[in-house]
Amino acid sequence: MTATVVIGIQWGDEGKGKIIDYLAEKNDMVVRFQGGNNAGHTINVDGEVHKFHLIPSGVLHPGKELFLGNGLVLDLTVLKGELDRLADLGINQISLNISDRANIIMPYHRAADSIQEITLGSGNIGTTGRGIGPAYTDKISRHGIRMCDLRDHGNLREKIEKGLHRWKDVIKTDEFQGIRLRTDEIFNMFRDLGEFFLPFISNTSRLINKSIDSGKKVLFEGAQGVLLDVDFGTYPFVTSSHTLSGGVTIGTGVGPTKIDKVIGVIKAYTTRVGKGPFPTELKDRTRDTLQQKGCEIGATTGRTRRCGWLDLVILKHSVMVGGATAGALTKIDVLADFDEIKVCTGYMIDGKETDEFPPSISILDRAKPVYTTLPGPFDLDKETLDMIKTGGRDVMPKNLLNYIEFIENELKIPIEILSFGPERSNTSEI
Ligand code: GDP
Ligand code: IMO
Ligand code: MG
Repeated sequence: MTATVVIGIQWGDEGKGKIIDYLAEKNDMVVRFQGGNNAGHTINVDGEVHKFHLIPSGVLHPGKELFLGNGLVLDLTVLKGELDRLADLGINQISLNISDRANIIMPYHRAADSIQEITLGSGNIGTTGRGIGPAYTDKISRHGIRMCDLRDHGNLREKIEKGLHRWKDVIKTDEFQGIRLRTDEIFNMFRDLGEFFLPFISNTSRLINKSIDSGKKVLFEGAQGVLLDVDFGTYPFVTSSHTLSGGVTIGTGVGPTKIDKVIGVIKAYTTRVGKGPFPTELKDRTRDTLQQKGCEIGATTGRTRRCGWLDLVILKHSVMVGGATAGALTKIDVLADFDEIKVCTGYMIDGKETDEFPPSISILDRAKPVYTTLPGPFDLDKETLDMIKTGGRDVMPKNLLNYIEFIENELKIPIEILSFGPERSNTSEI
């Protein structure tokens, strides 16, 4: 296998960063293909917690080639901050390649995102406020500023001026988060950022395709999750990019024929940050237990994540549209002490049971989950977990194996990786 895609197949925060970090060791390159710093990917190594918003999650393994593809929207101040923090940790020999076609999140996009959310009031989306939606809006309406534009100052200045003019009726303020929203100020800021980032900019599709053709091993790192995909998610409570594996082809310029494998990362239960439908959401003490034991606090915005039982209706939909060929199951340690674990196998909608994921939120809002109850606890002491790392399924506690096999039977894909704690070492192939 040379090209593997790793995507989240719930509402994000499934543990993609951890799985990418685990797999990166055996790969040469890690490539982000969509989203921006709305992502928050956490990696725990030897007690140190690292959170990355833009830098691909292979960065903690020396010598990996890292790519930010054309499908991303980039906040260059945030990216520079991540590079500076890594340098403080002594990680400064980073091979980072940024697509010359990637769009840039401008300060007016951040302002517009926050102000749009305030204007929507209780009907808001609950975005991360990072300017993602407005930056993709400008991309699709053909007004975006791209990395290659940083090379041409005259053009850059003109585009900034037009950008500010276009968003002025939404923003209605000249200052946002300490930045004066004036052409000169923003131009000066991006002229300096451009100088810093020019050495990183390249035709990344050419580089990635050549590398794949020469036999290098590539990991494509998804952000968000399939249920946040702009087409296949819980629209309009979604992000503004294509989060499924198809996003790789448009977000990197690598054709679908070059992808060998798609791993869907599945959290052992379900979480969601922000607003929007969530059929298996709990509001009781089980929710509190999941939140506390799973430390369910958003890595980007610090918001508490909504929690509920595993939902196989959304997972079947995500496996299908995301083309997942295998699964990585995370956070099973969080479920370990429950005597009974519920799994949603269908929705009851207007008196009819279905396992088809509906397209509209008004239908989803009426969906009542139909549950199957599986036995716990998982009896995961340290000794058992160490044994699983070498003995796999043969030494697995019966209830845990039963939980995994139930999911596999329903989704018709094998679970190949098991994660049972935040540390890099709490991971096993099974
Ligand atoms: P991502 O956005 O998909 O990369 O996921 P996040 O990093 O936003 O959220 C996942 C959270 O769960 C992080 O705090 C991880 O450190 C943590 N985590 C990942 N895998 C496991 C696991 O198997 N068990 C536990 N307890 N925590 C995990
Ligand atoms: P990772 O990669 C979880 C959610 C936001 C909001 C919606 C739209 O860490 O899994 P946006 O700012 O993208 O316009 O917000 O999408 N969202 C995420 N939720 N994990 C993420 O990324 C997310 N990125 C965006 O909370 O509901
Ligand atoms: Mg996250």
